[in-house]
Amino acid sequence: MEDSTRESYVDIHCHCLPAVDDGPASLQESLTLCRALREDGITDVIATPHQLGRYNDSNEAAPIREHVAILNTELERNGVSLKIVPGGDVRVDERICQLIEEDKILTLADQRKIILLELPHEIYIDIEPLLIDLSAMGIQAIISHPERHPVLARHPERLLKWLDCSAYLQVTCASLLGDFGPGPQTAAWHFLSMGWTSFVATDAHNLSGRRPRMNAAFEQISKRLGRALARLVCIENPLRVLQGKDVFFACDVNTGKYPEIG
Ligand SMILES: [Fe+2]
Repeated sequence: MEDSTRESYVDIHCHCLPAVDDGPASLQESLTLCRALREDGITDVIATPHQLGRYNDSNEAAPIREHVAILNTELERNGVSLKIVPGGDVRVDERICQLIEEDKILTLADQRKIILLELPHEIYIDIEPLLIDLSAMGIQAIISHPERHPVLARHPERLLKWLDCSAYLQVTCASLLGDFGPGPQTAAWHFLSMGWTSFVATDAHNLSGRRPRMNAAFEQISKRLGRALARLVCIENPLRVLQGKDVFFACDVNTGKYPEIG
């Protein structure tokens, strides 16, 4: 039976579509992951398959939209009350602005308002020029899991320049809970406690190593940094992305002030 006192979450970063990337390999695996997302308290998911990088020749916007429609039909047929909308986990690439214009890559919830950017893992590159170009198109960026980037975890001050360009940070639930080891865990809590992190998401891929852990992350954030911040990064801001509304920067939690949500 569902616990009605539990929070409901929107997940803005999730690899739940079958057979498109390193997420579920089949529809059955995808349905299993979707059931786990629902059990974790998530009601809405922005499906964010990898785009560009090693998926350069696949995963264009049109087929992803079709995969999302098919999965929604299957979820309904199988009695899983989870709603999926299209998005992408877009590897940083100098062609991004052009590819948005050509409708080849996806913004989050297909709203053409905010894009999820995945940094190259091994090297550090300054993405300020890309952030400026995106901003000129009226599109903001969310940088996915900077806490798992070894250079940014060691040199967090490099993020400040990007935050000044109106980029948002998304930290992964499993990083906060220690699943990626002590380095990413320390960095994730640092970015959150500094008020730099506006989103927490699952980045779930499967039920083995990369499962959704939103509710556990929410509880930990509530305990350590307060329920207002937990609600902002796990519920309010993700919902605003889903609805195509402006989102809020988290503030310095030491001031005790949070944005007015209305
Ligand atoms: Fe991802």
